[in-house]
Amino acid sequence: MSGARAAVKAASDAGDFPEVLKSWQARMEVALAARLPASNVVPARLHEAMRYSVLGGGKRIRPALVFATARTLGLNESAVEAIACAIEFVHVYSLVHDDLPAMDDDDLRRGRPTCHKAFDEATAILTGDALQSLAFQLLACDPTLSGDAAVRLRLIELLGEASGTFGMAGGQAIDLAAQGRTLTIEEVEEMHARKTGALIRASVMMPASCLPGLEGRRYEALSQFVDPIGLAFQIQDDLLDVLGDVSTLGKAVGADSERAKPTHPAMLGVPASQERVRRLHQEALAALEIFGAAAAPLRQLAAWLLARSY
Ligand code: IPE
Ligand code: IPE
Ligand code: MG
Ligand code: MG
Ligand code: MG
Repeated sequence: MSGARAAVKAASDAGDFPEVLKSWQARMEVALAARLPASNVVPARLHEAMRYSVLGGGKRIRPALVFATARTLGLNESAVEAIACAIEFVHVYSLVHDDLPAMDDDDLRRGRPTCHKAFDEATAILTGDALQSLAFQLLACDPTLSGDAAVRLRLIELLGEASGTFGMAGGQAIDLAAQGRTLTIEEVEEMHARKTGALIRASVMMPASCLPGLEGRRYEALSQFVDPIGLAFQIQDDLLDVLGDVSTLGKAVGADSERAKPTHPAMLGVPASQERVRRLHQEALAALEIFGAAAAPLRQLAAWLLARSY
């Protein structure tokens, strides 16, 4: 392809990306709804709360990472759809628990009352528990996933690692213990790598693990791409807590400073935090070089993620 044609193609690809993202979001709404228990099945209140928390909101950026990785590696989207659902279920569980009074004590999520406000605290705790179990059940037996038992086992291992004490749950524990304390920026970044980065990492490494024959250096390149993205994503979330707007974000703003959370904007200021996001973005893009044009979906998604306003 000539330089000029390549440039036109790149522009039109970038131009189409919000449409691609919308189509993935629509696909996820159907895929998630089909895998959730019906709200008229006992215990109906729990099932209603699960459907309320999962459906009808959220950017679905972890599923988008799953699909963008699949495209980059030439995998069919339907082969990774159950992985996208499992990760989104764990993510929603983490949000429902994150909003509880014992944690961030928030009333608004995805533009609506948080699960414990719309239902009650016990139901919110059980909603998180049940979503987490459902995620692992999908990896074990969703019929659309690879029949290869070794692949499924690896997927279960990766999601377990990402959600557990060395991932999201451990990061959340560090976050709660850090409120009102002084951390170094390295400690803040370690906290982010766990509480947010780990699940974002799983969103790339799980679809990559569906291809056991994937060359080691390509697997490693994906790992080097996604770690800076996960960290930058949380810094961007913390920037939006300072710069964002409640009606666009669908959640409270100013909540981090109210709870004296150590964040990049609080410790370094807004411009230096934005610069950190830019550098992490460049680092991530450099890791994708090995894939050439095939990684366009991951490049476009990364650009969208780090420029978002919600
Ligand atoms: C919010 O995640 C919590 C963080 C890890 C920063 P998202 O910004 O992906 O939330 P939704 O899924 O779009 O609501
Ligand atoms: C949440 O970080 C990370 C997880 C839910 C694991 P935040 O507490 O900053 O997320 P928001 O801002 O409430 O979405
Ligand atoms: Mg939190
Ligand atoms: Mg929170
Ligand atoms: Mg936040």
